[in-house]
This record gives sequence, structure tokens and C-alpha cells, in this order.
Amino acid sequence: MKILANDGISQSGITALQEAGFEVLTTTVAQEQLVNFINENNIVGLLVRSATKVRTDIIDNCPTLKLIGRGGVGMDNIDVTYAKEKGLHVINTPAASSASVAELVFAHLFGGVRFLYDANRNMPLDGDTKFKELKKSYAKGIELRGKTLGVIGFGRIGQATAKIALGVGMKVIYSDPYIDSATVEVPFFDGQSVSFEFKSTDKQALLGEADFVTVHVPAQKEYVVGKSEIALMKEGAAIVNAARGGVIDEVALVDALENKKLSFAGLDVFESEPNPEVKILMNPNISLTPHIGAATGEAQDRIGMELATQIMALLK
Ligand SMILES: NC(=O)c1ccc[n+]([C@@H]2O[C@H](COP(=O)([O-])OP(=O)(O)OC[C@H]3O[C@@H](n4cnc5c(N)ncnc54)[C@H](O)[C@@H]3O)[C@@H](O)[C@H]2O)c1
Repeated sequence: MKILANDGISQSGITALQEAGFEVLTTTVAQEQLVNFINENNIVGLLVRSATKVRTDIIDNCPTLKLIGRGGVGMDNIDVTYAKEKGLHVINTPAASSASVAELVFAHLFGGVRFLYDANRNMPLDGDTKFKELKKSYAKGIELRGKTLGVIGFGRIGQATAKIALGVGMKVIYSDPYIDSATVEVPFFDGQSVSFEFKSTDKQALLGEADFVTVHVPAQKEYVVGKSEIALMKEGAAIVNAARGGVIDEVALVDALENKKLSFAGLDVFESEPNPEVKILMNPNISLTPHIGAATGEAQDRIGMELATQIMALLK
């Protein structure tokens, strides 16, 4: 049985599938040639990330296809309901990248409290001539330890972020209308672990108490953090968005950074992705990454293995 991993798959996933008797093709077939390629090669499983679209044309015209797999979480690029109605299996790997996204949140936070986002822009330009001035301008850093992290959306990534925060010595509060309470287990390298019990608090209270806010909700119609929410935040607080563009109002965010209400922001996702606004890109108080939350070798390995395990269970 042949599997086409059109947007790539980790070597560990390929090996697991091959050992189970599948042939794995990793050619990237152009979108308009996919139907032909699938039919000519009798592909039974089509694996994608976010690039390849799996719409009705493929679902209707590829009789050999039994399974569509998304390496990652969001399935916006797949007509999931239609595919399921037509009898196809549709799978994804929702948990595989949570720890990687959580670490990226902390990369933004640790970088933010010590101005790394700005120092890395200015050191190459002025580091040799204005070392002392730069040293002075970044001299007022703070520690994360002892501060309060407010997590909006306490699902997989929200909880993975909380684990790191607890390890760092932060107080964690969260707001999630669908999760009243949660137990978060923080594992240590030697097998020990410590459990923490949490109860959801309302968003307004969280915004007023948190020194740092991180948002981990799915895309929604309204901003989760807009102008009125920012107004409730502490003076000098900071915010990270590694969820989806459009969850935070970027115009309100830039205003809040310009008038010093907020000290910095960390953004991995953007309202106008893949063409983020220049006002965001050029803002000196935003730590920027180009949607790389899940882009670690470990997450890609887990994604590949999780897909392979599900495919073996469904197709063998
Ligand atoms: N940056 C990246 O590369 C990257 C990678 C993976 C996932 N993500 C994104 O991260 C986000 C979270 O993913 P997850 O796996 O933790 O999802 P999840 O479904 O496990 O958790 C989302 C949580 O948000 C809560 N929620 C929904 N609406 C809310 C609201 N208005 N206020 C507060 N809470 C709300 C839900 O109850 C749920 O508990 C998603 O938007 C996902 O697309 C980003």
C-alpha cells in the first residue's frame, strides 16, 4: 500500500511505515497534478501539513484514497466533513507539537525580559562603536521567576506552557470557559514529578493580575485580546501570541506598545500571514518569529510517529 507524504514526513515516520509494509513516497506533487498522481500510483493514504489542500476535487476523483492525514493540528486545508461523509479516514496529530510551541513562548518571554529582540537588531549595527550605550539601554532587565503568567486557553499548549512556567518558578493563572479546573503534572528529568491543581479564573481578573499573558485558543471570529482587554492589563505587562493570527488585535497591540502600556510582545503568528504588516515587523518592541511553533526536530518526529501509528491501526 502506498502513502504519499506530499508536504514531507520525518524519517522516523517513514521507517515505522516501511517496517509495517507501506511504501512511502515523499515527492512533492503540484496541487493541480495531485489527482492524476494519486490515481496513477494507487495511493491509499495522503499525508499533508499546511501547504497541500485536500478539497472535493481530490476526495471525489481518487477512488483508491482511504485516508487523509494532517501532520499538525489545524485542518483548515482539508474538507474534513465532506471526506468523512465519503467514507475516508481523516486524522491529525493534535498533541505532538504542544511542548515545542510552549518552549517557543518561553523563548519570546526570556528574550523579552532581557531585550534580546532589540539587542540582536542593534549589536550587529552598533555593538563595536556604542557598546557602553547599548549596555546601558538594556540594563533594566527583569526575571521571570516570581512573576505571574496568565494563560488564556488551557488546552494542550496552554498546559504545556504552564508546566514550563511552574518549573521557572512563576505563578500560573488561567482562563478557559470550557475547562473549569485542571491538574498539571510537571515532570523532572529523574522521574520525579509534582502536580498542581488549577481553577479557571475569568478573563478580566486574569488580565488585571498577570505580568505576562500568553494566548492558546483556536482561531475565532472576535479578538480574544483587543483594545478593551489590553486596557485591563497591568502597566508594563507583556503578551505572546503563538496561537493564531487574529486572536490579538494587532492595531491595539501596536498602540499599547507605542504608548508604553505594554513593554513588549512576542508574535509567532500574524493577522495578515504570510505578509505581516510592516508596522508589526518594524516595531522595536516586538519579538518576531515566522510561525515556527511546531518546527522542531522532536515535534516533527512525534508527528511522523503519531501519523504512522494511526495509519497502521486504520489501514492494516
Ligand atoms: N505557533 C504554532 O506553530 C502552532 C502550532 C500548533 C498549534 N497552534 C495553535 O495553538 C492554539 C492552541 O492549540 P491547542 O493544541 O492547545 O488546542 P486545544 O484545543 O488543546 O486548546 C485550546 C483551548 O482554548 C480554549 N478556548 C477556546 N476559546 C477560548 C476563549 N475565547 N477564551 C479562553 N479559552 C478558549 C478551549 O476550551 C481549549 O481548552 C491553536 O490556535 C492552534 O492552531 C500554533
